Amino acid sequence: MGYENLLLKKEGNICILTINRPKALNALNSKVLEELSDAVDQIENDKDIHVVIITGEGKAFVAGADILEMKDMTPETARKFAKQGLEVFRKIELMEKVVIAAVNGFALGGGCELAMCCDIRIASEKAKFGQPEVGLGITPGFAGTQRLSRLVGIAKAKELIFTGDMIDANEAERIGLANKVVKADELMNTAIELAKNIASKGQIAVKYSKIAINRGFETDIETGMETERNLFSLCFATYDQKEGMTAFIEKRKPEFKNQ
Ligand code: HXC
Repeated sequence: MGYENLLLKKEGNICILTINRPKALNALNSKVLEELSDAVDQIENDKDIHVVIITGEGKAFVAGADILEMKDMTPETARKFAKQGLEVFRKIELMEKVVIAAVNGFALGGGCELAMCCDIRIASEKAKFGQPEVGLGITPGFAGTQRLSRLVGIAKAKELIFTGDMIDANEAERIGLANKVVKADELMNTAIELAKNIASKGQIAVKYSKIAINRGFETDIETGMETERNLFSLCFATYDQKEGMTAFIEKRKPEFKNQ
């Protein structure tokens, strides 16, 4: 678990993954992306981890892809770099665990794109969101043009991407980009409480719900409903469904085994 640019901390069933490159405001270079990909694989394979929190060290969540590294890229190397980020972020989006972004500060460009591939975004009142790429003469490249419009609607996404303007945490919450805004010193506790709440539920049911929501969002409603029906019925093959419903009838708390 020794990473140059990441910190991993396990607290019970929760894993806190911190992007730790504060000197460059946690900018994502190829090395950070490579480590992130490796860490995501490790977390995914750890059955004890139910929920992941991604945050950033210092005053930024992530201030974007690394501009120094990108400056002299050719179309070919830029394409490769974009692919690397797109793949890691897609892997995060499709993780079989819930991923919460605890957005502590700047979430710009690739940082906003990282936050958007997470399932839920809790923002500190100090957080700032934006896709400033056009000011650098480039488009977003880690799926900002895709996920932002899906999250906040096409009109707001176009406004944010065409202007490159930063918005504060309250505006991000108002347009649906952040789920919730909290005081800076309450950010991690809020994210951890939310993670614990989710981690206390039947994890197979949580995982199936995530799959159904994600697939449904990316397809037509008939296919989405069929996915939900398949996963709903599969729940009835689990211990947790028997336990959850028995516990309700016996008026006690369920003891899920996640099996
Ligand atoms: C490399 C970065 C960086 C970045 C900040 N730094 N953002 N280095 N890539 N994205 C570095 C600065 O160069 C500086 O290094 C140090 O971090 C501190 O930053 P400052 O600018 O001094 O801090 P501050 O004045 O507080 O301003 C904060 C900021 C600003 C507003 C966030 O740093 C900024 O505008 N950063 C760039 C944001 C951005 O354009 N992101 C989108 C990138 S494109 P030194 O060595 O001087 O101390 C992108 C594309 C994704 O993300 C898709 C790719 C395929």
